[in-house]
Amino acid sequence: MPKLGVNIDHVATLRQARGEYDPDPIVAARCCEKAGAEGIVAHLREDRRHIQDEDIRALRESITTRLNLEMSLDDKIVAIACSLHPDVATIVPEKRAEITTEGGLDVVKHFRRIKLAAAALKKAGIKVSLFIDPVAAQIVGTKEAGVNIVELHTGAYANAKTSRQIARELDKIRTMTSFARKMELTVNAGHGLKYDNVRRIARIPGIAELNIGHSIIARAVFVGLEQAVREMAKIVNG
Ligand code: PXP
Repeated sequence: MPKLGVNIDHVATLRQARGEYDPDPIVAARCCEKAGAEGIVAHLREDRRHIQDEDIRALRESITTRLNLEMSLDDKIVAIACSLHPDVATIVPEKRAEITTEGGLDVVKHFRRIKLAAAALKKAGIKVSLFIDPVAAQIVGTKEAGVNIVELHTGAYANAKTSRQIARELDKIRTMTSFARKMELTVNAGHGLKYDNVRRIARIPGIAELNIGHSIIARAVFVGLEQAVREMAKIVNG
């Protein structure tokens, strides 16, 4: 059964809406761990729209599970990651105008930059993961870039409307998980996963971790964060 990583970006989004101190993403992270999260995910975006550098520093010191820092390939961000030492750095594509990470990283197109950034992060003792679409060429590129972890983008599955589309997207994730496992990569997955669509992804053999943010924070508004995480962990962990 996969582990649950909780993305706390949207707690910081709410804080930034007022520019004050509440709600504190560090308190939220501890609350998620208490409720069964086995990892905390935070995205230090170039525009700092939610998580700030100081949040990553404080998370590094206070959480007891694993810190997964989502980040772009920007040189300054790579340097910050190397100095802040998350357990894992997940490289994602980042566009200023996007609402959320819209697609997977194109490892084939940005191969040289990815290989260099991954080498710098690994030298700093940080595990590296690439957030990619479930496509064979991207998995092969990941392996060739010297990276051992992929996070498969589940957005197309989450957005699929008909049962045929859903089955097709699920099949892609299942097939690409097995392909990546045969190449000895660790496989994580995430994006757009909710209480009503996560079960079928969680049951795919070989997925180590699911990283989920928006649906948990949205449910927390009604039932509280601990309860929201507990409910998701129960589905993910079976
Ligand atoms: N994994 C990655 C790499 C992401 O970029 C995001 C979105 O920040 C997530 C997981 C979580 O996605 P969601 O908020 O849709 O659950």
